Amino acid sequence: EDAERVELGDATLMPGLMDMHVHLTSDATKHGYKRLSVSLPRAAITGVKHAEDTLMAGFTTVRNVGAPGFADVALRDAINAGDVPGPRMFVAGPSLGVTGGHCDSNLLPYEYEQYSEGVADGPWEVRKAVRRNIKYGATVIKFCATGGVLSKGTKVGAQQYTLEEMKALVAEAHLRGLTVATHAHGTSGIKDAIRAGVDSVEHVSLLDDEAITLALENGTYFSMDIFVTEYILGEGEKAGILEESLNKERMVGKRQRENFEKAVKAGVKMVFGSDAGVYPHGDNGKQFARMVKFGMTPIQAIQAATIHPATLLKQQDTLGSLSEGKYADMVAVPGNPLEDMQKMEDIRFVMKDGQIVKTLAM
Ligand code: ARG
Repeated sequence: EDAERVELGDATLMPGLMDMHVHLTSDATKHGYKRLSVSLPRAAITGVKHAEDTLMAGFTTVRNVGAPGFADVALRDAINAGDVPGPRMFVAGPSLGVTGGHCDSNLLPYEYEQYSEGVADGPWEVRKAVRRNIKYGATVIKFCATGGVLSKGTKVGAQQYTLEEMKALVAEAHLRGLTVATHAHGTSGIKDAIRAGVDSVEHVSLLDDEAITLALENGTYFSMDIFVTEYILGEGEKAGILEESLNKERMVGKRQRENFEKAVKAGVKMVFGSDAGVYPHGDNGKQFARMVKFGMTPIQAIQAATIHPATLLKQQDTLGSLSEGKYADMVAVPGNPLEDMQKMEDIRFVMKDGQIVKTLAM
């Protein structure tokens, strides 16, 4: 009754947006060796700013898929306690991966003994790593099935975890009631991850027809970050991205966009995942126009950021649409985004859980 009245005028009201692939504690201006100078506490504080930037861009829920030192857990807890503004966060803690893989840290030579906290090899080690992440607050599990673009010395197309390891990891996470997100660019890694039962595959750059069939059979979601290539190739060098990574991106970005279109046409379940943190937080919405350019209808793109992520996270009873009994998470843009997807970059109104956190003239 006492709710503030907001004049929406000629605006479109939508459910709060959901981004299934962010790294709130990562700074897009610091990549490669520059990132080594960022301490864990500094990254956590940066995360506070990024959380607010993300919320103001209309993303009322995010899945944070990898953060050193459980800084994402701390950020989530601070947001939930009302200490700082930010989106609802589903958090992975440190991403799991093989020794020397994409989710390890490979920048320094042997004598520095540098490795990431998520390194785990073999079925029982990965099960233990899942248990450890849950113990310290993770609500989703993220692992790296293949090499990547931004990691030093990894082959983007090469599989890293074996099917045996992935099956153990997924079984352990599901046993405990958590969903699993998998970084996978390479074809065999994508397919083994789906065979192992992961809930979503991230990037999915080098998919083939069999990967699409497997995803359809298993109900696996694809989260394809098709905007970030523009930032990596445009601003990446300045931000410290290594030349070898720029070269990998030149190959992967284009293939990923073509394959996005294929997956959409085939009817694979798609969720919005941006990899913000690689590019600036708050620019998440720039991906909508690309999703339409590369094969989605406007309403499919919006559903990829609303009802589909809610279902992926098994939160469809509380999130993802404007209906009775769900959290009052909503956003508004001027005009009609179904006619011009770039409107999704112009969020003027944000409500999270019934609280207005942003309201600008329409
Ligand atoms: N974090 C990802 C990686 O390093 C970024 C890939 C971005 N490129 C792309 N075309 N989606 O592999």
